[in-house]
Amino acid sequence: MADKPYHRIRTERAPAPEGCPVDHAFTPFSKTYMDDPYAALAAKRHDTPVFYAEALGYLVVTRMEDVAEVFRNPAVFSSENVQDPVLPICPAAAAKLAVDDYSPIAVMSNRQPPEHARIRKHALAGFSARRLRILAPIIRQRCNALVDAMLAGGAPAEFVTGLAHPLPGETIFRFIGFPDTDDRMLKEWTTDRLAFTWGQASDTEQETIAEGMLAYWRYCVEFVKTRHADPQDDFTSELLAIHDADPDALAYREVESIVYGLSFAGHGIVSNMLGNGLISLLSDRTQWDELCADPTKIANAVEEILRFNSPQTSWRRVATQDCEIAGYKIPAGTQIFLSLGAANHDEALFDNPETFDIHRDNARKHIAFGQGIHFCLGSRLAVLEAQIVLEVLTKRLPSLALVPGQKFDYVPNFTFRGPKELWLTWDG
Ligand code: HEM
Repeated sequence: MADKPYHRIRTERAPAPEGCPVDHAFTPFSKTYMDDPYAALAAKRHDTPVFYAEALGYLVVTRMEDVAEVFRNPAVFSSENVQDPVLPICPAAAAKLAVDDYSPIAVMSNRQPPEHARIRKHALAGFSARRLRILAPIIRQRCNALVDAMLAGGAPAEFVTGLAHPLPGETIFRFIGFPDTDDRMLKEWTTDRLAFTWGQASDTEQETIAEGMLAYWRYCVEFVKTRHADPQDDFTSELLAIHDADPDALAYREVESIVYGLSFAGHGIVSNMLGNGLISLLSDRTQWDELCADPTKIANAVEEILRFNSPQTSWRRVATQDCEIAGYKIPAGTQIFLSLGAANHDEALFDNPETFDIHRDNARKHIAFGQGIHFCLGSRLAVLEAQIVLEVLTKRLPSLALVPGQKFDYVPNFTFRGPKELWLTWDG
């Protein structure tokens, strides 16, 4: 298969499958859904677990069993649409990316078999236990420094700007090998990227994000060139070594595109996970106190955060051929909205799914990281970051609490979910 561009604008739209329930109003951009996607889809999961959302042109799948089945069948349900903008990009922003030297290609989430397996194998090797062991003390040290700054500023403090946003960006930049002197610039370029493809960014915002994407791509191209000439102990140099040993195993443009794609995949979503995690934990003092008293419970608490309040509530697929889901005949070309959030609250798998419970013995059965050949490449890194942040906060700030009375506001987004702001307080 020829290389495909990273993003594609889709205009085709398959009709509602015959006999399938149709909802004329459902959209993840509604205030009701953004405030609580779980409540918005709970009734659907019972009554019409698969339905066609007329306003979106997507088939919505809500039960764990059906979502998992779609993930497990990549030949019939392709991931080629996952990086396509959900809403059309404005002409001015599209023009900024239409220049010849903006040329990232699909390498992972939207790459199809058999090339996907070839590329993924090499990228996965970079997420080795050794690389995570090198990163762990760096994440812990930076987390402690950000907590020091929060404490120095005094309570109350805003957690998203203070810690949840900076830490994951810096982590993925160190993983790739970017120098920390470039952090400020890199963060400017990569922030808000989720709004470009999955959000409702205004035309002006889209233009700013597109400028950042172009600047960031050019930076990645230059960075890969530098590492090629002078390899270091980092993920990028490992990929280049594979390319040099056998260019058919991993093409040079694929290395550039992996580096480019990773910071987006592993940045804003982790910030959202940290915000959601603290909201869930601090909303139930008993469970927070338990973690402070016994940090060995943090690992399962992180799994429960991913199940109960995941930073990614949906993902997409497109049917490559006429097929069936839950007994409905689905025409080829149907775009599918897999509700990971609804599946993670499916009572067929989880007892009392609307209860946040750090002791849940099957919390790990969540589908927040997907399933099958595209299972999240950065899952171990994301979990490591969340565990370290919770270890540091429970140890240093056991009195941490949500500032009472605050209402959480969420950025309008088709797929990703996390608070815009999260105000915290603590004793003394
Ligand atoms: C809590 C944080 C995260 C969540 C909830 C999450 C979730 C997901 C999901 C649902 C998928 C799609 C799986 C599928 O299509 O079956 C995915 C894929 C992916 N994720 Fe993550 N992710 C997270 C963090 C990260 C991080 C930190 C990185 C990188 C450092 C990352 C890199 C990727 C990549 C490269 C893919 C595509 C894998 C492939 O197609 O083979 N993710 N992630």
